[in-house]
Amino acid sequence: MAQPRAAQKGLRMAFFPDSLIDEVRDRNDIVDVVSRYVSLRQKGNRHWGLCPFHQEKTPSFSVNAAEQFFYCFGCHAGGNVFQFIQAVERCDFTESVRILAERAHMKLPEGGEKGRPNGRREHMDKLYAAGREAARFFHRQLVSRQGDSAMAYLTGRGLTPGTIRAFGLGYAPDRWDGLLTALREKGIEDGIMAEFGLVREKEGRYYDAFRNRVMFPIIDSRGRVIGFGGRVLDDSLPKYMNSPETPVFNKRRNLYGVHALRKLGTIDRIMIVEGYMDLISLHQAGFQTVVASLGTALTQEQARLLRRYCPDIIIAYDADTAGQNATLRGMRILEEAGLRVRVATLTDGKDPDDFVRRHGLAGIEDLIGQAKPLNAYHMDRIRQEFDLDSPDERVRYVSTCCREVLSRILSPVERNQFVKTLHMQTGVDENAIEEEIALGRMNIERQRKNRTGNSRNNNAEPNVAARKGLPHGMSRAVASAERALIRYTLTGKEAAARVFKTLAPDAFTDPVLGKAARLISEQWAEGRKPALAGILSHFEPEEGALLAGAVEEAGEHRDELYIAQCMDQVIIHKIKTRLDALTERISTETDDDKKSSMKKEFDELKVNYHKMKQGAHRKEGYHD
Ligand code: UTP
Ligand code: MN
Repeated sequence: MAQPRAAQKGLRMAFFPDSLIDEVRDRNDIVDVVSRYVSLRQKGNRHWGLCPFHQEKTPSFSVNAAEQFFYCFGCHAGGNVFQFIQAVERCDFTESVRILAERAHMKLPEGGEKGRPNGRREHMDKLYAAGREAARFFHRQLVSRQGDSAMAYLTGRGLTPGTIRAFGLGYAPDRWDGLLTALREKGIEDGIMAEFGLVREKEGRYYDAFRNRVMFPIIDSRGRVIGFGGRVLDDSLPKYMNSPETPVFNKRRNLYGVHALRKLGTIDRIMIVEGYMDLISLHQAGFQTVVASLGTALTQEQARLLRRYCPDIIIAYDADTAGQNATLRGMRILEEAGLRVRVATLTDGKDPDDFVRRHGLAGIEDLIGQAKPLNAYHMDRIRQEFDLDSPDERVRYVSTCCREVLSRILSPVERNQFVKTLHMQTGVDENAIEEEIALGRMNIERQRKNRTGNSRNNNAEPNVAARKGLPHGMSRAVASAERALIRYTLTGKEAAARVFKTLAPDAFTDPVLGKAARLISEQWAEGRKPALAGILSHFEPEEGALLAGAVEEAGEHRDELYIAQCMDQVIIHKIKTRLDALTERISTETDDDKKSSMKKEFDELKVNYHKMKQGAHRKEGYHD
């Protein structure tokens, strides 16, 4: 049976009942929705336009009106109407539901979000209003006489009035009740200001939390003020004061500067810097694709946020922080989320702000040109910890590199490059290095197993980069056979029954197609006609795109012979996989009884395998 959607998607999803999601989808025809972003022309049963997700001159972006999904034959983006909105508005699933519900003038239930009390939205709206009004107040102060010293400080650091306005910078006056009084006049409750971290309470009296500081509003991707950083005007400490985590400010999920990113068109790389001033200086110099981590380690949630914009990341941290372990871990998190990470090393100056003021945009472009892929960078860092003239340290250098870097590299070609480098640096035998890597691998696997075993809320996402190609060990022919079968099972109840009689959903090699098969067979069994658009709701955007692509590129095959051949193909593949596994296990099994029973299974399967192969062969014309 279908699980509630919130459970499938992990805890970060809000909960909406399936029926509501289906209704929102029904009321938003995908052709209408897409038309607001892309100009479409109808040809046959598809609508075509220029893809909004990659640059192109001839249309390869298609919208299938009958099945209510989109697919780009150029960049392979695809999915249903929610996934389209997520991609084009760069928002998450919950937000896409909200946007589309609003568009269809539907009211979403107030208490509809899991674990959230009624009135939660109203409460959040109050916090947003407090943020907005506070930002206005601080900005007014900055441009007034009160703000002279702060203005002098900012212009002294090279910021222009245009930049100050664009980032909504402000000044918190040196008073105990400046903001408090102003926000009370706007009708903001004291309790809300306190929750936002704008004021503090002592013995029933409230007073301003930020005093005599330059204020940096933190704005989320929908343009709402969710927090502030306040900097002193001199060298006193603490340098920055930050507003706290609140229902509107989730620090794991936000990055400073995402708001400005949304206004840009296609983004081909994003630079991550540490500080507010780094980001603002870069913008002013004309480099706009930048976000700031605000001095904390990067999280999985931030990786996902970045992935919506672009998969190419350049890290440009201050000279003194780049090598710290927490920083490296943050970079690994980005990489594990499927982003390509390079690290730029400042050749001059203490931070990117300093650097760009000295060397301008051209200097930044040079830095990016010289940025090192994360693995190479990591190896360099480790290299600096050891004295390679000492034999003892050479060995420790090699094993540290294997454990921390090489055993995590999936590509054999890339790994081999590093093995060669290590061999040249240390003289350690290449085979020995390979063995060390294999050991490191086993450790990582063990850790991963423990982790997933212990945590019930396994939030791991499929690795997009790894899933671009075919699942491990699967040939193109089998992949296209599985796709054709999925497409066929959508066409009718009898068609589906024929396929599922022979192939259970878990017989599909591709896990995405296997999950689709399960959903399709469940829906037919419940007496509903499955629609691809509905099936797609059960997938994360990346998987959804794979599924949409699978169906769209499979074409429409209703020819029974062809379908029979596809089923043979998948079964043969399954038997072959089992035979390979048995061969391996037989060679390592020490228990004689087990060994002989495996051999028996092997021989039977082998006979079957040859029969199937000959049978499949006789049906003419089956080639990939
Ligand atoms: P930096 O010390 O690099 O700050 O810390 P910065 O932005 O370059 O500041 P300037 O150039 O001295 O004005 C990077 C980030 O770490 C956070 C802030 O978000 C800052 O932008 N930070 C730093 C704090 O939260 N508290 C601090 O006391 C210091
Ligand atoms: Mn700085």
